[in-house]
Amino acid sequence: HRDLLGIGRLERHEILFLLDEAQQWVDLNRSSAKHSDALAGLTVINAFFENSTRTLLSFEIAGKRLGADVVNMHAATSSVKKGETLIDTAITLNAMRADAIVIRHGSSGAVDLIAQAVDCPVLNAGDGSHEHPTQALLDALALRHALRERGEPADDFTGLKVLICGDILHSRVARSNILCLTALGADVRLCAPPALMPDGVEAMGASVFHNFETALDGADVVMMLRLQTERMNGQFIPSPREYHYLFGLTKARLALAASDALIMHPGPMNRGVEIDSEVADLLDRSIITRQVEMGVALRMACLDVLTRKARGIEGWASQ
Ligand code: CP
Repeated sequence: HRDLLGIGRLERHEILFLLDEAQQWVDLNRSSAKHSDALAGLTVINAFFENSTRTLLSFEIAGKRLGADVVNMHAATSSVKKGETLIDTAITLNAMRADAIVIRHGSSGAVDLIAQAVDCPVLNAGDGSHEHPTQALLDALALRHALRERGEPADDFTGLKVLICGDILHSRVARSNILCLTALGADVRLCAPPALMPDGVEAMGASVFHNFETALDGADVVMMLRLQTERMNGQFIPSPREYHYLFGLTKARLALAASDALIMHPGPMNRGVEIDSEVADLLDRSIITRQVEMGVALRMACLDVLTRKARGIEGWASQ
């Protein structure tokens, strides 16, 4: 692949290859050096047409730790605000001879369009409610680390019961995670109010629940998602209190899951709505900050692997 547009385009061995590649960067980031020259002389552009804290900062840190020159384009202060089309913006970025472009956009498919208009690798940092591939990969890396610390090999997630609960309908994180987790052998359960559950998820290999307590029964991992009210456009919006009553992860509800169940959240969190603070901050069980740590290493792996061809190095695993 030249680009990283979605988990749906990756084979299982390619997912595992990226997770394995990320380990060297986990080790580097935990050392005092925190720096490599792997991408020295290359330019990475982060073009963000939608807000971000974690993804933008971790791609910026990832590029800088690899020695690349990193520049950020925020839509709010760009000529997008003056009516420039997406393709003209892409052609403009391309003319600056970037070596990799990382894009977040509010419309599903926008990142694919840009990828067709530029000459360098494009990495999808989230497009509408379609995909957020680096989030799913960093989630898998964080999960693998937490399981290995418990002495489980976690080469893949065969038989692991992973519950994803929240606004599945609007969530690119859910979609990428369903694809990634099922590819790695997990038993994926989805839980949401009926109005926030998309059609067709059973065909992706997931099972559907509308009752949170039933879905939690024996789960090994509980991944909570926020309500994406910015994508609801006047459709059903539950009140935060009503939503918490039915779908909020409380300590009492967590007791229904496996006794050592891990807690995940991609952020940003709405504490007291989809997750209580006493659960989000639970020592030894919550791996939410570890997800953020793994995000930097995983994005270093993606930038490294995708720019290898331009650097004259063999790129993807070919087995
Ligand atoms: N998880 C995630 O994509 O967070 P940001 O929106 O802060 O980048």
